[in-house]
Amino acid sequence: MRRNIVAGNWKMNLGFEQADDLVNLIAEKLDEVETETIVIVCPPYPYLELTSDLASESNFYAGAQNVASFDNGAYTGEVSAQMLASMNIEYCIVGHSERRKYFNESNQDIATKVNLLLKNGIRPIFCCGEVLEERDADKHFDIVKNQVIESLFSLTGEEILDVVIAYEPVWAIGTGKTATGAQAQEMHAYIRSLLTEKYGKEVSDEISILYGGSCNPKNAKELFANKDVDGGLIGGAALNADDFLAIIASF
Ligand code: 13P
Repeated sequence: MRRNIVAGNWKMNLGFEQADDLVNLIAEKLDEVETETIVIVCPPYPYLELTSDLASESNFYAGAQNVASFDNGAYTGEVSAQMLASMNIEYCIVGHSERRKYFNESNQDIATKVNLLLKNGIRPIFCCGEVLEERDADKHFDIVKNQVIESLFSLTGEEILDVVIAYEPVWAIGTGKTATGAQAQEMHAYIRSLLTEKYGKEVSDEISILYGGSCNPKNAKELFANKDVDGGLIGGAALNADDFLAIIASF
């Protein structure tokens, strides 16, 4: 169902003590606020149990940042969707641009992961977005269209309802260069139009599309005010409890 969502992607940051402090602080502060927004915290794997234990007693969810593209077995170093499900993890980021860039993940690999997650009852937070050269060459719509079609469009109308989409223009990630509200709205509306074409309006209206890329307490309001922007996938600003909470309060 379409809901406002703010998800924090901690990426590969923080030692155990810092992670413990941060997630406890987020839980405490969240307990003091009333919000309809779904809040998700995605720490590195070693801190997932800690996060999920706290989440189960508080009003947020724990999410993973990645999942293996295989079922359980001899794949040293990998973590399967079955394992995440066995820990009651409800969300998992897939297709982040950093995974596409540094780990050569293809749209097909991401489709495999999306399918494995859904099969195990975990909601994928599917990331898409263009690099700067693609935007400069006016190819951003085609790039995002391909990513969405190749990774998601083998799903049924029922399955896609469990997917959260995050539009993260790569040029805005970690650069301090945020997309304007208008740029985000334009791409989000386009993604929704693709979903409408494939699955119909009733389905596309129910899918949350988040914005990610240098989103912070200063610009979150402008971004979230747009009708097709249903929240954010937050990197750097999610490492500070006050900033993260301020973003959650920006609807
Ligand atoms: P920043 O908010 O640090 O730009 O990162 C965004 C992101 O990649 C979230 O997945």
